[in-house]
Amino acid sequence: MIDLGELKPFASGGNRHCYRHPQDPEKCVKVMRTGRIEELHARAPWYKRLAGNDRFDDNLRELAGYQQPALRNADDHSPVWRHLARWYGLEETSAGRAAVSQLILDENGNPAPTLEDYLQEHGLDAPITAALEHFAQWLWDTRVLTKNILPHNLVVRMHDGAPELVLIDGLGRATLLPLPEWFEFFNRHYIRRRIQRMWRRIHWEVSDKSLSWKETERHS
Ligand SMILES: Nc1ncnc2c1ncn2[C@@H]1O[C@H](COP(=O)(O)OP(=O)(O)OP(=O)(O)O)[C@@H](O)[C@H]1O
Ligand SMILES: [Mg+2]
Repeated sequence: MIDLGELKPFASGGNRHCYRHPQDPEKCVKVMRTGRIEELHARAPWYKRLAGNDRFDDNLRELAGYQQPALRNADDHSPVWRHLARWYGLEETSAGRAAVSQLILDENGNPAPTLEDYLQEHGLDAPITAALEHFAQWLWDTRVLTKNILPHNLVVRMHDGAPELVLIDGLGRATLLPLPEWFEFFNRHYIRRRIQRMWRRIHWEVSDKSLSWKETERHS
């Protein structure tokens, strides 16, 4: 059991708090925010509630995401880890069950900034455009399935002097049926759509945001 004691999260998302592992500074320990699972459950439409609370536990969803075909049999040297945090499993902590994964670090050994942070500071400059192109190519080549790719779910680390993107949240698929896992045609279609949507979101992110993201999506 990991004792998070009085530790403060180094970052928090809408659903989870992220801590640096107290015994292993290169691991990230994520626990659901208190009451969040019940809140999501209560807010969901009836048909989504049928599967019970587990459906709203991001750590269980993440575990399922790491069990997808493209990752199931990946060894330590597989190219899938080039742009994806490594997975160390679920563990109990003093703050509840946690997902333990690789903590992505910057050059100073601190948690790496998100793509959202990077875009706010530098805009869509040439180095990050190249990093996004690499990331898109990696998605296409490895067939890793993701939900919609959002700039706060990618972090930026430096590799040979150039920024490199690493996915730290949002694995899995956004469709009800596992067609992209079963059929080549659906896989190609699904990944192409995620990449197109990723670019749309990035361009929206650096725009004046006069239209909300929801409206922008509706127009496309
Ligand atoms: N493996 C990691 N390495 C470095 N930073 C991380 C890592 N995992 C998470 N973070 C940081 O913590 C933040 C929140 O993590 P995460 O996105 O997993 O939480 P979440 O609540 O599930 O997110 P969401 O709001 O997208 O539902 C990230 O935006 C990022 O800044
Ligand atoms: Mg997130």
